[in-house]
Amino acid sequence: MAHRIAVVPGDGVGKEVVPVGLQVMRALDAPLAFEELPWGCDFHARTGRMMPEDALATLAGYDAIYLGAIGWPTVPDHISLWECLLPIRKTFEQYVNLRPVRLPPGVRSPLAGRGPEDIDMLFVRENTEGEYSGTGGRVHVGTDAEVAVEVPVFTRRAIERCARYAFERAQERRGHLVSVTKSNASRFAYVLWDEVVAGLAGEYPDVRVERVHVDAMAARMVLRPDTIDVVVGSNLFADILTDLGGAIQGSLGLAASGNLSLGGRGPSMFEPVHGSAPDIAGQGRANPIGAVWSAALLLRHLGYAAEAGRVERAIDAVCEDGHVLTADLGGRASTAEVGEALVSALA
Ligand code: IPM
Ligand code: MN
Repeated sequence: MAHRIAVVPGDGVGKEVVPVGLQVMRALDAPLAFEELPWGCDFHARTGRMMPEDALATLAGYDAIYLGAIGWPTVPDHISLWECLLPIRKTFEQYVNLRPVRLPPGVRSPLAGRGPEDIDMLFVRENTEGEYSGTGGRVHVGTDAEVAVEVPVFTRRAIERCARYAFERAQERRGHLVSVTKSNASRFAYVLWDEVVAGLAGEYPDVRVERVHVDAMAARMVLRPDTIDVVVGSNLFADILTDLGGAIQGSLGLAASGNLSLGGRGPSMFEPVHGSAPDIAGQGRANPIGAVWSAALLLRHLGYAAEAGRVERAIDAVCEDGHVLTADLGGRASTAEVGEALVSALA
């Protein structure tokens, strides 16, 4: 039986990079069946909704979701995201947002003198709560007494399941875990965060855990990226740090992610970290590698480890060769040309 994948190209360059990801996955002969769902801001223009009323029930029937990008200037971002991307992450309890930050061979990092041996990190981002809890409200709207409250929510359960996943990845990698915190200023939430991580450490004696405040972590990623292996962070902290990660791995256009539903609550979702990029959308110049790398994460998640490895090696080969790259990586190739190069590089 084929695995059924819901494909949501979404908005902007999402519609340009997702076809390349599909092209690469189709070239692998894995038993995957793709069904495209035309949701996003165009759908909103026609229907007043980002996706149909029964969209989450529809998605629940798939084995995985492959997403391009959500968001376009026609719909305020807090609406497009809270009516599409964020409910998917939360409803299916995609509680880990997995984001590899690795500099491929041949790509120049903006960090002087750093090569692939220095930049190979794995971010494990808590993906259901924290500053993204959606708790809050506004009163006295439009008056000068206006108040807005946005309440971060941290639960032992969500911190623990995410941290456990990070410890396990650290065991498989270089045995080092950085837990990103801010428990010097935040007296409640990040103190709980630290306690939960420290409480798990005893179960993973082979993992060395370091607690690093988020401000220091930003500097550490720039100054000593070679000292970073696996990182676990809250929703907002790891959101910010993984854009920095995208920059130091050579381009945000390379950055991949998997929103993993590990508790059997529904499908996982795979998407490039870059957004819909209105500034370059429609020009065929977007880097498809972040989307293709996300496809590799999807393949591995569904059990196609060999195929995932082939895709990752093709990415490395195209980067190392350096002749067919998009403008963000200093090249002149189109999205489609990079797609062809990736397919030809599949060994
Ligand atoms: C990301 C994005 C989203 C996030 C936005 C679009 C809500 O920046 O996937 O990193 O903050 O999670
Ligand atoms: Mn982000």
